[in-house]
Amino acid sequence: MTDALLKITRRPDQVLHVSLDRPEVRNAFNSRLITELRSCFEMASEDPSCRAVLMTGEGKSFSAGADIDWMKRQGELSREENVESALEMAGMFQAIYACKKPVIAAIHGAALGGGTGLTAVADMAICEHSTIFGFTEVRLGILPAVISPYVVEKIGTGKARALFVTGSRFGGQEAERIGLVFRSVPDGQLEQEIEKQIQELCQAGPLASAQAKALAQSLSPRPPAEDLQAMAERIAEIRGSAEAREGLSAFLEKRKPAWNQEGEG
Ligand code: COA
Repeated sequence: MTDALLKITRRPDQVLHVSLDRPEVRNAFNSRLITELRSCFEMASEDPSCRAVLMTGEGKSFSAGADIDWMKRQGELSREENVESALEMAGMFQAIYACKKPVIAAIHGAALGGGTGLTAVADMAICEHSTIFGFTEVRLGILPAVISPYVVEKIGTGKARALFVTGSRFGGQEAERIGLVFRSVPDGQLEQEIEKQIQELCQAGPLASAQAKALAQSLSPRPPAEDLQAMAERIAEIRGSAEAREGLSAFLEKRKPAWNQEGEG
């Protein structure tokens, strides 16, 4: 398929390389990319010839999160359609989290909003010191709802509370310090570190490695899947609100939202 929004390559070491391929909008995900990502991870999960998945992004940045134009349009749908599309987005994150194969993510440039969410669902995310993260949703008048169970699992409620309410951006070393990524490496060393980790992974028995992932996840105090419906309803509700309409429109019109005429965007 030539117009696919995902680039999928089977590597000789049985690692499936999946790369987000909408670089013109910094790999922001719309409903098509959501569907492609979900089915790709569901397929990898059951594919005996795949032992791990490597997730990357084409172009300048890993992912700018949800497509803001798409988010705005979903907020204008009927409540039922809005919730249904939010559930599809929640299902994509869950498919990556629940993929039976280990998922390694190489994060460069920016990983904002849902891009930080994709970082959180990976088993092992590695970034560069210059990579920018942030739960920027509140700056658009929306919430990091569907990603929150995975983020809280990685960084804990305390840090999530501080970062969620401000939407502040932070760098790779801070992401490592709070446990969002496994490792942050100096710029230019990302590929080398990823290959090193893949080599480490290839020394593990494929079945044992997959089961070790499930084992670690089974110790999570609150399985993220339990919150799927509730989180989808939260994002659906807020993206239909007047504040979200203003915040999302402001981004698309390249202006500051009404509530932030003085501050930083
Ligand atoms: N949804 C839709 N379009 C997006 C987008 C998103 N999440 N993020 C970026 N884009 C678009 C921009 O509008 C721009 O479009 P244009 O070329 O028509 O002007 C294009 O992608 C490139 O973005 P730009 O800001 O010029 O690139 P950059 O490399 O300087 O900065 C980011 C990249 C990711 C830091 C910046 O685009 C950004 O902050 N995006 C918003 C991220 C965000 O808050 N996501 C949460 C979504 S819920």
